[in-house]
Amino acid sequence: MADWDPAQYLRFANERLQPALDLLARIGAEAPGRVLDLGCGAGNVTAILKTRFPAADVVGIDGSEAMLAKARDSAPGCRFVLGDFGGWDRALAPDVLFSNAALHWTGGHETLFPDLLSRVAPGGWFAVQMPAMHDAPLRRLQNEVAAIGPWAETLRGVGSARGILSAGEYWDILRPHAAALDIWETTYLHVLTGEDAVGEWAAGTSLRPFLDPLPPELRAGYRRAYAASLAPHYPPRADGTTLLPFRRLFILARR
Ligand SMILES: C[S@@+](CC[C@H](N)C(=O)[O-])C[C@H]1O[C@@H](n2cnc3c(N)ncnc32)[C@H](O)[C@@H]1O
Repeated sequence: MADWDPAQYLRFANERLQPALDLLARIGAEAPGRVLDLGCGAGNVTAILKTRFPAADVVGIDGSEAMLAKARDSAPGCRFVLGDFGGWDRALAPDVLFSNAALHWTGGHETLFPDLLSRVAPGGWFAVQMPAMHDAPLRRLQNEVAAIGPWAETLRGVGSARGILSAGEYWDILRPHAAALDIWETTYLHVLTGEDAVGEWAAGTSLRPFLDPLPPELRAGYRRAYAASLAPHYPPRADGTTLLPFRRLFILARR
C-alpha cells in the first residue's frame, strides 16, 4: 500500500486537531516523565503534547516514514521512532500514552488495548480517540462505489480502517486492568469548504486504500463516482460550506 500523504491529511488539520485537544484537556497528569504519541502521523499533535508537558520526553511512534519526516520538521524537541502499534519497546513505559485517530487502522483491539494499557507506567494515563464512522455514508459509499464499475475487479477485497468495537466492549476489555476508566462519544459537526469537500476529506484518510491500487484513469473515475454518490448526503449549505457529522469515540483510563 502506498504511504500516507501528509499534505492531503493536513488539508483539514484544524478539524482533525479539535478532538485531540478535547482529549488532552481531560488528562490530569501534571509532570509526566515520558509521553508517547502512538500513530503520531505528521506530528502536529505531538508538538502540542510537548507544549502541554514541556519537561517530558515526548516520543512519537508511527509506521509511515513520510509522516515521520514531516513530524521531525514540525515538532522540534520531540523524538520520533518508526514502529508498529504493538511493536514498540516496553521499556519506554510512558506516563501518558496518547493516540489520536490512529488505532482504528488496526484490528485485534480485544488484545491490543489491554496490552497497551499494561505498558503504561503505574498510575499513568491511557488516552485514545478514534473515528466511529463505519456506518456513515462517507465510509459506506466507498465500499458500494468500489463494487460497481471498471475498478471493481482491482478493488475486490479492499477495505479501509476496520470498524472499532462498541463503547461497552472497550469497557469490558479495559475495566479489569484500569484503576479508573471513562469512555464517551461525541459527534462533531465539521464545517468544510471547497469543491467535493467530503471526498477531499476522505482522500486524506479512509479513501486511500481504495485509491492507491488504481491506475490514474480508474482512480479519477472512482473518485468522480464517489463524489457523485456523496453529494445528496452532504449537500452544500446556503453559506457555501459543507457539514460533515463525524462521530468519535474517546477512552481515558488510569493504570
Ligand atoms: C489518521 S493518521 C493520525 C495522525 C495523528 N495521530 C493525528 O492526530 O494527526 C493515522 C496514523 O496512524 C499510522 N498508523 C496506521 N497503522 C499503524 C500501525 N499499525 N502502526 C503504526 N502506525 C500506524 C499512520 O501511518 C498514520 O500516520
